[in-house]
Amino acid sequence: MENTQPKKRILSGIQPSGALTLGNYVGALRNFAELQKENEYECFYMIADLHSITVKQVPKELRKNSLDLLALFLACGLDGEKDPIFYQSHVPAHAQLGWVLDCCTYFGELSRMTQFKDKSRKHADNINAGLFTYPSLMAADILLYQSDLVPVGHDQKQHLELTRDIANRFNNTYSDTFKVPEPYIPKIGAKIMSLQNPAQKMSKSDPNENSYILLLDPIDRVVSKIKKAVTDSEACVRRGEGKEGVENLMSIYSAATGKTMDEIENEFAGRGYGDFKAAVAESVVEILKPIQAKYNDLIKNKDYLEKIYRSGAERAAYVANKTVSKVYRKIGFIQP
Ligand code: TYM
Repeated sequence: MENTQPKKRILSGIQPSGALTLGNYVGALRNFAELQKENEYECFYMIADLHSITVKQVPKELRKNSLDLLALFLACGLDGEKDPIFYQSHVPAHAQLGWVLDCCTYFGELSRMTQFKDKSRKHADNINAGLFTYPSLMAADILLYQSDLVPVGHDQKQHLELTRDIANRFNNTYSDTFKVPEPYIPKIGAKIMSLQNPAQKMSKSDPNENSYILLLDPIDRVVSKIKKAVTDSEACVRRGEGKEGVENLMSIYSAATGKTMDEIENEFAGRGYGDFKAAVAESVVEILKPIQAKYNDLIKNKDYLEKIYRSGAERAAYVANKTVSKVYRKIGFIQP
């Protein structure tokens, strides 16, 4: 018998605010592709350009990064013909619902967001209102599609919890309107740390280039960055107190090879960091090479990229506009 149940939905997004890191890939993008392949979900994957202007952007670079990111989405295995891939700014419903949800989110809640506090520290000359209300726009992104599942890295967990609170609050006030989404945070790789300071997450905004691996880094740079990664003086591949650098490399290796942390400890028992780092580098290079090759092809094919993002926005808008109409009706706006 044909299954008439509508598919469950996924929404997630990545900001086009610079080149993607291995952290973005392992924590999020790779799971976007895997979940899409499972065929159980209708997947909405978005390039979060509205979010990216909460910090200063150079227009020309933003344009380039936005197109690069679409090519990278596809190079990492997302299927933009099966499910929509789109730019957030192409679907006005995001800004529309974002405003409504701004009015359902408390100042105190937004003040507690650790990412707001971090980014305010980093961009002290530009603590704008958008940076502050960003989590309600993110809630709008998710709730517009009545999403069941949201694949993200660990640093977005707090925003997801707020999204759930906002959805419940709206539903309790105006009757059932939004699906309350679940986060999907991978067990391994949800928080890849800086290679130079394993107390901080790997981030493209880190001023030290050796602290992160970019998906489009030349292969020899990747190998040299991993060789230079901070470890400790014990020369033993294991987890433990004071071994955060090694543990981070182990997580990367685990994410890249599928081996468990125990298996990795056994594999490198009695061997030094030189061997270990060479193996980590090789496993990462194996992931990056095919992605880079596909990216290099796709980025030349502007017509194809345009076709993907145009049809993506159309399909996304169809779903998102329905939610906005429903919300507007429930809150008491006169129908146009
Ligand atoms: P963004 O663009 O900062 O990061 C994109 C995704 O990458 C994950 N990530 C990491 N995972 C593991 N280790 C790391 N070092 C690491 N760094 C980043 C992030 O957790 C994220 O999943 N607000 C979002 C974008 C967004 C969004 C949404 C996400 C906008 N609307 C709706 C989900 C649903 C952001 O800034 O992610």
